[in-house]
Amino acid sequence: MNIVLVGTQWGDEGKGKVIDILSAQVDVIMRYQGGSNAGHTVVVDGREFIFHLIPSGILHKGKICCIGSGVVVDPEMLNKEIEGLSKAGINIDNRLKISSLAHVILPYHKILDKLRETKRTNKIGTTGRGIGPCYADKINRCGIRMQDLLSPAILKDKLEDNLKEKNEILKKVYQHPGFKFADIYKNYLNYGRSASKYICDTVKLLNREIAQGKDVLFEGAQGTFLDIDFGTYPFVTSSSTIAGGACIGSGVSPRAIDKIIGIAKAYTTRVGEGPFPTEFEPKFEEFIRNKGKEFGATTGRPRRCGWFDSLMVKEAVMLSGITELAIMKMDVLDGLKSIKICTGYKYKGKIFREYPYDPEVLKKASCIYKEIPGWDENLSRIKDYQCLPKQAKNYLKILQDMLGAKITLVSVGSSREETIFS
Ligand code: GDP
Ligand code: IMO
Ligand code: MG
Repeated sequence: MNIVLVGTQWGDEGKGKVIDILSAQVDVIMRYQGGSNAGHTVVVDGREFIFHLIPSGILHKGKICCIGSGVVVDPEMLNKEIEGLSKAGINIDNRLKISSLAHVILPYHKILDKLRETKRTNKIGTTGRGIGPCYADKINRCGIRMQDLLSPAILKDKLEDNLKEKNEILKKVYQHPGFKFADIYKNYLNYGRSASKYICDTVKLLNREIAQGKDVLFEGAQGTFLDIDFGTYPFVTSSSTIAGGACIGSGVSPRAIDKIIGIAKAYTTRVGEGPFPTEFEPKFEEFIRNKGKEFGATTGRPRRCGWFDSLMVKEAVMLSGITELAIMKMDVLDGLKSIKICTGYKYKGKIFREYPYDPEVLKKASCIYKEIPGWDENLSRIKDYQCLPKQAKNYLKILQDMLGAKITLVSVGSSREETIFS
């Protein structure tokens, strides 16, 4: 069974936790897009691991973890993660595989990402990890790929060419001194040397595994509404975060995919700028932020918080062909008198019952809510779906009916054990 797992909101839905759980059942975990803008948290025996590039299944012994061709790799971050795992006593040798075709993030991508933000009238609030500029170079056909780091002559050619242009831009547009060829060249050849044992043809590897009947879990990063095409553009990331991205970013045919699982928080969060129709008013937002520890796993920024938006998640179900949903962080809603679900938007007298792609509507619409009673119980201790308070079951039933996908997992805490399978 080959499964694609995607975020259905604006990222940070709790994908890391579910990837870790599902990894026990598969042979290979494949991360297929994004880069170290992602922060996927896994909590095991009270220990918290945050993965940015390495697939969140790495804690399971013997599982192959791939970084696919659709990922943009920052070798400095990669080394830090490998080091962290090694210190934690987790052996990744012969298990971590990095696509030779994956594009590489260079120092000028990171600087340009940050400098561009300072010049924009409408800031995106990027993670500053160089994601946009690296994907832009890929599309512009001047990117440097992992395999280029293994060849001094090729790297020299490409880097010299790139630096000529980047340094001009940095100096003339941003009054930045630019970069010295020799420094980057030396560092990146070193990165290539240390990563060489992981770099391989992951396309063949994955297709061979699938042909042999092995099971693959495709790990999505970010979320549906950060998708470069279908997200709240321009307040998005630079990759395809919907399920279709799994094939493009790994070199596997759509025919190989058996199931698509969507991950949704029981409410909504967003880091960075952009429209957010169901966003709470500041006081309640702060309350939920503190209760749900809603601070970015990558940048530490406070996450914006709001009610569950059924229009968005329903659109995500359609865009990715989601048949199963995991509802995360239900415990954060413990103790609320009532809970609201957004069922429509109202803008200039018009009612929207389906997600509109019009940024004006998303920015200015007021929300139509269905309000239902909350529960007093502490959900974190509950192990069995039947033992959930009736109000919590009611909330899940309403969501399932609205979204048209089966809720098969309910999460009531950050650890593996705090999970209810339904
Ligand atoms: P991801 O990017 O989708 O993997 O999500 P993040 O790791 O960025 O953010 C999710 C946060 O919520 C992490 O700190 C998780 O440990 C935590 N978390 C996951 N599931 C639950 C849950 O059911 N309840 C609570 N309270 N925390 C959770
Ligand atoms: P995970 O995988 C939440 C957001 C940034 C910003 C926008 C563009 O942990 O769910 P970028 O650096 O990608 O150019 O920033 O996208 N963003 C995320 N928000 N979770 C993520 O990843 C994100 N990755 C990027 O905050 O608004
Ligand atoms: Mg995250």
